[in-house]
Amino acid sequence: MIKVEGSLFTLSGDSYTYQMKVDDYKRLLHLYHGQTIEGDASTLLSLRDRGFSGSPYEAGTDRTYSYDYLPLELSVLGEGDFRTPSLVIEQEDGTISAAFRYIGYTLYKGSKKLENLPSVVIDDAECLEITLEEELSKAKLILTYIVKDSSLVRGLKLIASSKAITVTKALYSLDSLFGNLDVTYFEGRHCGERSRRRATINTGALTFTSRRGATSHQINNGFILSDSDATETSGNCFSLELLWSGSFTFFAQKDQYGGSRVALGAGSELFRYTLKDEELTLPELLITFSSNGFSELSVKNNRFIMNYIRRKNSSKLVNPVLLNNWEATYFNFTGEKLLAIAKEAKKLNCDLFVLDDGWFGKRNDDLSSLGDWFENKDKLKMDLSELSDKITKEDIAFGLWVEPEMVNEESLLYKKHPEWALKLLNKAPVRGRYQLVLDLSNNEVIEYIKAFLDDLITRGKLSYIKWDYNRFITDFYSSVTEVGKIEYKYMIGLYSIFEYLNVKYPDLIIEGCSGGGGRFDLGLIYYTPQSWLSDNTDAIERLDIEFGSSYLYPIATFGSHVSAVPNHQTHRTTPLYTRSSVAMLGSYGLELDPTKLSEDDKAEIKREISDYKKYASLIKDGDFYRLLDSNEASCCMVVSCDKSKALLIAVNRLSHGNPVDRYVKLNGLDETKSYKLNGKVYPGRLLINGGLLLPFTFQEDYEAVRLYIEEL
Ligand code: GLA
Repeated sequence: MIKVEGSLFTLSGDSYTYQMKVDDYKRLLHLYHGQTIEGDASTLLSLRDRGFSGSPYEAGTDRTYSYDYLPLELSVLGEGDFRTPSLVIEQEDGTISAAFRYIGYTLYKGSKKLENLPSVVIDDAECLEITLEEELSKAKLILTYIVKDSSLVRGLKLIASSKAITVTKALYSLDSLFGNLDVTYFEGRHCGERSRRRATINTGALTFTSRRGATSHQINNGFILSDSDATETSGNCFSLELLWSGSFTFFAQKDQYGGSRVALGAGSELFRYTLKDEELTLPELLITFSSNGFSELSVKNNRFIMNYIRRKNSSKLVNPVLLNNWEATYFNFTGEKLLAIAKEAKKLNCDLFVLDDGWFGKRNDDLSSLGDWFENKDKLKMDLSELSDKITKEDIAFGLWVEPEMVNEESLLYKKHPEWALKLLNKAPVRGRYQLVLDLSNNEVIEYIKAFLDDLITRGKLSYIKWDYNRFITDFYSSVTEVGKIEYKYMIGLYSIFEYLNVKYPDLIIEGCSGGGGRFDLGLIYYTPQSWLSDNTDAIERLDIEFGSSYLYPIATFGSHVSAVPNHQTHRTTPLYTRSSVAMLGSYGLELDPTKLSEDDKAEIKREISDYKKYASLIKDGDFYRLLDSNEASCCMVVSCDKSKALLIAVNRLSHGNPVDRYVKLNGLDETKSYKLNGKVYPGRLLINGGLLLPFTFQEDYEAVRLYIEEL
């Protein structure tokens, strides 16, 4: 519900309130966000003379009013607020100052789709649009708010007049008047994405920036702000997530009076956007609230993502189990070898065969050919359509790996269009995996990518594309775009291709990927229903990546495969049942050569796939609960929304002599129901409050248990 009473704006979703007020000087204050309140939270503001805190000119002799300590909906450098700003604007004359004054609002039903940007579109959502105008340049700032369930979606648009302004920072901020708050963030590296870390907000700013031109493996663009004593099952917490896949900035800082500010938005130090008679729409921010800890936050947030953000395509392939040949063959295959793998995959009951890197140009290693998107007939000994026909004749769908944003210097494309790569004019570029990044801010490049994808999708009769991105942007210079606009315009170019594909091929499944999970974010999830979670396919390490990712992303979006042992990244050997159980926490697949499996392993994998298919819709549509997450053991559960069914998966790491028993409380079930599991009946209250003794045998390392729980 959105209520406007005079200058007070109160936005209420399920169990939260978000409140703003226009003050006497037409600035927008942020009064409150948190558990539901009634009334006007400006009673919390303490107005008194604070010495060195300056006041707006309009306040005359009133020295008690200062933007140096008042909570602000957006904080602009140059208005007397010395905290870290969320908006920095340079005027035409070079001065760095801006004064945005409230001029009006509108209320409407049904949020609007943004052009070439991921956006939350909900027909029955209540929306508020507040317009501010900048005093000097007359630029307008449009703030939008979409209220739905336990979430709030914020939007930001700048409309410049004929007087130019240059935006160097445009983040969403969230000010709190008081309280000890923590930030949970998800850091990592290639093959070790989204490890959860927690820090207390203090006077020194905690800042995270991706200046890689992509979200990155190193720090995700989703954060959780919580009471410092919040746990999985208690305390107030807010998730903040950008619908964006490019560079971004986050900071959190306590101020001199114990209040705090957190801010998140697109762009790094490389962002510098000059506008004149022009608009700039920033990516949206999703905020979800829970007053009952991280588990409930994840459930509410992930339901929102599944309902309103994740792409729904019309594919006939429902939760397809795929086999990807990357770890099976790497670059070393022929058409016949692929066909043999696809046939075996079909026998195991896979729905889709995905041909990974190495099928195009002269690509037999990663030194060449990105950009030359035509099949290597010498290697395949057939053309793409023949290969596709042969594979699909086996009654298994066909998909292809592509890396459209890249070019190798050793390619026909680069010889023809060296100016299409992002690189400085008089300096040798930084190479990443021997490749350069194409300039997606250039329309010619966009048209070339669309054309070759059209060709491949049509000739290859593709049901699926794995869209990879295997290096970050270093050399910010474009032959067509101002340097400071590249970060933004690159992403708009990328999103425009996804929009084109999604409209033209509504039943094509696109899986996102960036050396595993280097671009795992809501921007991509909006266009690609699943993303390869990590290049690390080791079941034990993967469990940590899945747990970290589950805080802010639904498990249905995790591309998750069973690979061979010893594992190619860690050289660890884990039981097949464990590898399969861990892969079930996501969109299931195989990443191995089935022609090399023993008959016993084949039979087991076949059983595992049919088990996964039994649970697939529960896994896709259910709520995910983290029940135990320690160095010794992990346990989680997917519970159907009506709480009538659940799948519990637990892994004990090392086996010990005289082992310690493992117990979990089954948070997420219904206290009033009784449940059947392992042939016994348990009251819900016993499982939730008393707990369950996990039936590990402790006979081997990395042992998994998988339990199906059903309402009696
Ligand atoms: C990336 C992907 C892998 C694989 C290789 C191919 O690393 O994450 O899954 O596709 O590229 O080069």
